[in-house]
Amino acid sequence: MNYRHAYHAGNFADVVKHVVLMLLLEHLGRKASGYFMLDTHAGRGRYRLDDPATQKGGEFASGILRARAAAEPPEAVARYLALVERLGAEDGRLSAYPGSPLLARALMRGNDRAAFVELEPGEAGALRTLLKGEGRCAVHERDGYEALAALLPPAERRGLVLVDPPFEAAEEFERLAAGLQNAHARWPGGLYCAWFPLTAGGVAARFLGEMRASGVRKQLLVELTVLPFDSPLGLIGCGLLLVNPPWHLDRELAGILPWLASALAPKTGRPRVEWLVPE
Ligand SMILES: C[S@@+](CC[C@H](N)C(=O)[O-])C[C@H]1O[C@@H](n2cnc3c(N)ncnc32)[C@H](O)[C@@H]1O
Repeated sequence: MNYRHAYHAGNFADVVKHVVLMLLLEHLGRKASGYFMLDTHAGRGRYRLDDPATQKGGEFASGILRARAAAEPPEAVARYLALVERLGAEDGRLSAYPGSPLLARALMRGNDRAAFVELEPGEAGALRTLLKGEGRCAVHERDGYEALAALLPPAERRGLVLVDPPFEAAEEFERLAAGLQNAHARWPGGLYCAWFPLTAGGVAARFLGEMRASGVRKQLLVELTVLPFDSPLGLIGCGLLLVNPPWHLDRELAGILPWLASALAPKTGRPRVEWLVPE
């Protein structure tokens, strides 16, 4: 496994994913009863921007730094930016970017619980150190897809599963489709959010076709394309497939994505929010 999220931390895809993650956890936090969050590919939880890998990738410059600099963010984006600031800024300057575990921990309440799964020992160890003393946050060093089968359904009976794989391996889309369908069969009422890359070859289309035909209802597709479709570069955009999204999230995201598109990819950015499978 070569993937290290430090090279990509705070890029446009992290911004889109984490705005949506925040909205989903805010939604779950509106009910008094506790929820469970499973993050199957959690990463190390915090990425220093002066880390040589993060500096080398430099992707945060066209991600979080652009979002911070853009005018008039929608309310939800302003809340996300404030959260990032609280978790990673020193004297008004961003020195670190929070990963999904740190963002989740900041949003969780005393009766909520999370399991963060990370296969790479160095990343899992760093996350364990970061979350030390947080009884409601468990770190599991294991395969994220195995964890889907082992940890679902949760006792809380409500919550979120974030599946954010590295897409290094050719069969990642197949594993993701199978993992989501199996998890949904175990826990049909769960909220699911799966991240996937958009590439010039259009590989995601097969995955989406399979999910469309899976029999799983209520699948919302959220995409942000940052480069033209004929771009020779690998990653031209990112997508999130949401299963069982909260009521009206489609409308809320349809209002937010155009702002993110023009802030993160002025001129070339194209948003898409549509139902892959309706209710
Ligand atoms: C895209 S990053 C996760 C970023 C994180 N979810 C966030 O939003 O901050 C993917 C992570 O998955 C880890 N990983 C790779 N293969 C895995 C597997 N089979 N199971 C669990 N984690 C894995 C990588 O080490 C990497 O840290």
